[in-house]
Amino acid sequence: MISSRLPSDLSPNAVSAALAWRRAAEQPVIDLTESNPTRVGLSYPADLLAPLADPAALVYDPQPLGLWTAREAVAADLGRHGLAIDPADVTLTASTSEAYALLFKLFCNPGDRVLVPQPSYPLFDHLTRVEAVEAAPYLLEYHGAWRIDLASVIHAVTPRSRAILVVSPNNPTGSCLHRDDLAALVQVCADHGLALIGDEVFLDYPLDPAPGAAPVLSQQEVLTCALGGLSKAGGLPQVKLAWIAWGGPAPARTRTLHAYEIMADSYLSVSTPVQVAAPALLKGSSAIREQLLGRVRRNLEALRAACAAHPSVTTLRVEGGWSAVLRVPAVRTEEELVVTLVTEEGVLVHPGYFFDFSCEAFVVVSLIVAPSTFDRGIARVLARGGA
Ligand SMILES: Cc1ncc(COP(=O)(O)O)c(C=O)c1O
Repeated sequence: MISSRLPSDLSPNAVSAALAWRRAAEQPVIDLTESNPTRVGLSYPADLLAPLADPAALVYDPQPLGLWTAREAVAADLGRHGLAIDPADVTLTASTSEAYALLFKLFCNPGDRVLVPQPSYPLFDHLTRVEAVEAAPYLLEYHGAWRIDLASVIHAVTPRSRAILVVSPNNPTGSCLHRDDLAALVQVCADHGLALIGDEVFLDYPLDPAPGAAPVLSQQEVLTCALGGLSKAGGLPQVKLAWIAWGGPAPARTRTLHAYEIMADSYLSVSTPVQVAAPALLKGSSAIREQLLGRVRRNLEALRAACAAHPSVTTLRVEGGWSAVLRVPAVRTEEELVVTLVTEEGVLVHPGYFFDFSCEAFVVVSLIVAPSTFDRGIARVLARGGA
């Protein structure tokens, strides 16, 4: 007996089937969707995880919001983005995905809604559904840079709405929240009693930010949760340390944190070794972050240079993050193009429809792929995907 929160159709989609066929035929695949930083040839110091063996972790001190020393270290680290956060307003989770699950449980009854950007991270459909919450899309529109279509935000709000989710920089558009859009979202939240949830896991990867980008905690007018984690900030998804930084009016924040603490006490999911090691891991992983930033900058430049020789393909503006969007001629469906790229060229890219782009044809590539692999893959995508 499986609940209807999980998908009933588990059959592979056309792209997965093409990939399985290629792998079964033992043909090589250039994976331009690779987003696992531990698999792209970065240089991780062998002793980076040594702090996990600190004997201080031999004592178990269960703290639903996280160990104070770890919360202090995260708050201090957020200072890199010009944010002055009180450690009391930082809570720890094992991952950003887990933070979403906790926040949806905190804010929503079954059937309530959260507003989610479109196009954006496909996992939101799943993360909301398993919490019995409805994801109500609002639109991002591209006019040389991506901005929020505020009319679609207002249209998506109903009496069952509980929160607005923003992703900045967004996956896959690479767009950053503009301060005017932030002000407008804050007004909608204030008018309708909604929380603002800002997924800022890619904040450390600015590429071509438009003037006026603003972190969600640059305002304190409405209850706000800013999400981050070592998975992206330190290239350490396997370590399982993420955080929520809370902002907004003190009475609402205090009340909400008390309720959150009761819920988090049922899970206590962040391991003691990782919390004890947090200050050292935040410091040590800055070397990985620098490599990743150099990598995404290099690959974006190479992508733009390669596209310049293929006028029918455009790289959309990328303000930050780990991915880039290519607009390709819509002379066939995205699915046909992506399946052909896998089966005949041995290159895997994401079709735009995975992220709910409002029209075709787009493909999405990861910018953290090793440079020589990236260049070879992009050359094949452009040769095949151009008109
Ligand atoms: C926008 C966004 N948020 C959250 C996550 C998940 O992060 P975590 O590994 O901390 O769960 C991802 C992973 O790709 C992401 O792209």
